[in-house]
Amino acid sequence: MPGIAIVGVQWGDEGKGKATDLLASRTDYVVKFNGGNNAGHTVVIGDKKYALHLLPSGILTPGVTPVIGNGVVVDLEVLFDELTALQSRGVDTSKLRISSNAHIITNYHRILDKVTERFLGKRSIGTTGRGIGPAYADKVNRLGIRVQDLFDESILRQKIEGALETKNHMLTKVYNRRAITCDEIFDDLQQYVERLRPMVGDTSLELHNALEAGKNVVFEAGQAMMLDIDYGTYPFVTSSTTTSAGAAAGAGIAPSKIDRVVGIVKAYTTRVGSGPFPTELHDEWGDLLRSNGFEFGTTTGRPRRTGWNDTVITRYASRVNGLTDIVLTKLDVLTGIERIPVCVAYDVDGERFDEMPLSQSDYHHAKPIYEELPGWSEDITGAREFSDLPANAQAYVRFLEEHSGSRISAIGVGAARDAIIQIHDLI
Ligand code: GDP
Ligand code: IMO
Ligand code: MG
Repeated sequence: MPGIAIVGVQWGDEGKGKATDLLASRTDYVVKFNGGNNAGHTVVIGDKKYALHLLPSGILTPGVTPVIGNGVVVDLEVLFDELTALQSRGVDTSKLRISSNAHIITNYHRILDKVTERFLGKRSIGTTGRGIGPAYADKVNRLGIRVQDLFDESILRQKIEGALETKNHMLTKVYNRRAITCDEIFDDLQQYVERLRPMVGDTSLELHNALEAGKNVVFEAGQAMMLDIDYGTYPFVTSSTTTSAGAAAGAGIAPSKIDRVVGIVKAYTTRVGSGPFPTELHDEWGDLLRSNGFEFGTTTGRPRRTGWNDTVITRYASRVNGLTDIVLTKLDVLTGIERIPVCVAYDVDGERFDEMPLSQSDYHHAKPIYEELPGWSEDITGAREFSDLPANAQAYVRFLEEHSGSRISAIGVGAARDAIIQIHDLI
């Protein structure tokens, strides 16, 4: 079973980084296939805490080859800052591979991300401001700059000039900002070229060969199902395919090479940024989940919106991703809550929906239909077997499993690397 995709099921921050780290010791490659430094994955190893943005979480495990696939958008300043920070903490980053087809985030993408958000006012998406949307827009508009373009000065200049042509009209005439020169972008990118060169290769071929040779390859998604450009709460989404299908397109391997798809589900739900969120809590329960779960963004530090678990979303994600397994995270955060509501369906203007409503307008006023489960008060952070959990915690897990469309194979009971209950092997 060598190809394993790890995907987020809700609105991100489910604990994908920790799950990837868990598998990394039995993995040869960890591939990031979508998104960029909008992601924030926290991995806790002993008394050390790492926050990864652009680099795959597998970089923390010796022996793993981390890969940035063609589907990623790369901010070179962030890349080298993150590498330097890890090196200074003693992490070996020398194996990193980067696809020559990955697209580059430039300063004009970052600026456009911020000014368009400001321009949208009340309708803003609440992006991370990292230039992700504008970089993917250029890719689709065929105005993007790819990693391989950095190694040909004349092509690079032509591409920057082409990209700036319309952007400078927008910046100066619509957004009242100064124009950007080709030279400033060119000089900025040039400073990274020689350091970048040895890392760049045909990662599609390298991964194909690895899979053919029976190596284990983990494809680690950024973001999650409900932020997917096609399946998420559009337009309040990110600009890439966050689902398992994106692993093939964004890593350059055949879909048939993905043997297993692991969905990461938080025991409750969080969201950063704008957009609908049916189970969102605006009361003291929401505050409790935020403070007990330390729900503040790894990337922007924003407080995360919080709510109860929503099994309609998990069923949707199970189907679209083809989940074979679920890792349920942060069960420990629910300890001490007397009765725990779980959303099993929606009420949209008097009509019951067991699956996602067809229209986004309906989703904006979907009201959760809850079933309440009894909670537990015992500390579960030391549990390592399913049978170590209090009966009500076991029943809560079983209830989620019955309503989720896939089996729960592991349960997170704390942020530490070993704070996990393994029910079925993931590799
Ligand atoms: P990602 O973006 O999906 O990788 O998730 P983040 O790293 O942004 O957010 C998940 C947070 O929960 C991190 O701070 C993790 O250290 C933490 N975490 C992961 N699993 C567990 C768990 O089972 N229990 C607790 N209490 N924290 C966890
Ligand atoms: P990880 O990988 C949570 C959200 C932003 C915003 C929307 C679009 O850590 O789970 P973007 O900058 O991508 O154009 O913003 O998507 N968002 C995330 N929310 N976790 C993430 O990543 C996110 N990456 C983007 O808050 O609502
Ligand atoms: Mg995160």
